[in-house]
Amino acid sequence: MRKNIVAGNWKMNKRFDEALELVNDLMERLEKENELNAMVVLCPPYPYLEMCSDMSQESYFAVGAQDVSEQESGAYTGEVSASMLESLGLDYCIVGHSERRAYHHETNAVVEKKVKQLLANNICPIVCCGELLPEREAEKQFDVVKEQITESLFSLSAEEFGNIVIAYEPVWAIGTGKTATPQQAQEMHAFIRSLIAEKYGNEVAENTSILYGGSCNAKNAEELFANKDVDGGLIGGASLKAEDFMKIVTSFK
Ligand code: PGA
Repeated sequence: MRKNIVAGNWKMNKRFDEALELVNDLMERLEKENELNAMVVLCPPYPYLEMCSDMSQESYFAVGAQDVSEQESGAYTGEVSASMLESLGLDYCIVGHSERRAYHHETNAVVEKKVKQLLANNICPIVCCGELLPEREAEKQFDVVKEQITESLFSLSAEEFGNIVIAYEPVWAIGTGKTATPQQAQEMHAFIRSLIAEKYGNEVAENTSILYGGSCNAKNAEELFANKDVDGGLIGGASLKAEDFMKIVTSFK
């Protein structure tokens, strides 16, 4: 059975004291929930990973990084390796976010290398894909996502594929307040699942969690998550406030 996951991508937000306050607030709220229908993952900036990882021992969330180096180790100033993340006890790492693709020229080939580094270190990659606005307007969204998934993930074995999570994030919906409709999300998620089924078979496809990201918030999460192929969300802006994030986490019915 695939997992429901709600992951908070804090991006480059919050100073240390603010980050600590947010985690404490979330911990108090998580404590009060009798039953959670989703796995909660916090993806803070690198300097706060250790603090979050320590605090996660006392709570109900897992911790992920927002990026990782494609290299194993060595003279790569400013980079952080998968093995370093593993040594902090992290379980997840976002890869191929559209902001990395746009501002850091991350290609599908780079995403593939990063995914392999993470899997070699027992960290679950949350692999992002999604089309730009002009691509959707030209009705190319399925071609774009197919290319991203095929080029970055289809060299994995079926066993390796069993350890990844996919996040569909239409770039026109990220941070814009324009959410994909539940129908648009479901249609793309079902398409992604069919690609996985074609390549790896139904069992792997049915066990892969596919998250939606892009202006998902406390108001629209329930409607999005109600779709059969939407297994949760990768949440940016709305993960920065404990109250909003918790509303999303508890949106699974
Ligand atoms: P957003 O970001 O929720 O602020 O749109 C989502 C993401 O980029 O992961």
